[in-house]
Amino acid sequence: MLNQRPYITLKHAISLDGKIATSIGESKWITSKEARIDVHKDRSLHDSILVGINTVLADNPSLTIRHIHTDKQPIRLILDTNLKTPLTSKVITDGLSETWIFVSNKVDKISIKKFEYFDKIKIFQLKSSQVELENVLDILHKKEIRSVYVEGGAQINDSFLQAGLIDEVNTYIAPMLIGGKNSPTSFQGKGINYLKDVFQLELKSVRQIGKDIKIISQKEGQVCSQES
Ligand SMILES: NC(=O)c1ccc[n+]([C@@H]2O[C@H](COP(=O)([O-])OP(=O)(O)OC[C@H]3O[C@@H](n4cnc5c(N)ncnc54)[C@H](OP(=O)(O)O)[C@@H]3O)[C@@H](O)[C@H]2O)c1
Repeated sequence: MLNQRPYITLKHAISLDGKIATSIGESKWITSKEARIDVHKDRSLHDSILVGINTVLADNPSLTIRHIHTDKQPIRLILDTNLKTPLTSKVITDGLSETWIFVSNKVDKISIKKFEYFDKIKIFQLKSSQVELENVLDILHKKEIRSVYVEGGAQINDSFLQAGLIDEVNTYIAPMLIGGKNSPTSFQGKGINYLKDVFQLELKSVRQIGKDIKIISQKEGQVCSQES
């Protein structure tokens, strides 16, 4: 159990039917430009942005603040058990911000060495065969990272849910229907069996941004917020 850890905001962009991508994995773009600019504002309120390796492989995201002025870019965090992050991906080559990749003890030193040629890239090799969130958050706390903006995808979101490691959820809902049983929803994994055990949140605000809706919810009893 972690006593001290960064504040965790989980952001997801979904269709009206709760999908985060189509059945073939397309997710650019579900929400409007206005909503995406709002995401960039929220990125600027956080010390770091976290995604899973599948999101890097599917979208090759920049994970930087672009549409608004900022003095500082958040650190990009990738959870990547087997170090599959391509050396050609934007988070490695663009040099716009630091990228920290968390890998398991299964990764060999030669593979890690290949990343040393790049500026601003750090590989954190954990002692375990899986990249456990508690270990990642413990390292982040020790490195004085006080907030994490989790941008998915579905498996990463589910890990945060299963561990109860969510302080705030920012949901952007686009007025579109994607459908399809193979189109992913925001949380893919075991889920929670009984309603008495579900992760309870309190609604903090609902507003329209462009053609989309933004809902901010916080974990029940949460007092502080990243939202200014
Ligand atoms: N609409 C949105 O808001 C949004 C946001 C982000 C992504 N997406 C979409 O979501 C899709 C990708 O989502 P995804 O669910 O397939 O993958 P993901 O959540 O991006 O990445 C999951 C992978 O991360 C690795 N991982 C390492 N440590 C983990 C941990 N503690 N918990 C969970 N995963 C861990 C695992 O792979 P290894 O075992 O290989 O390390 C796992 O398979 C893409 O289509 C993307 O476009 C949509």
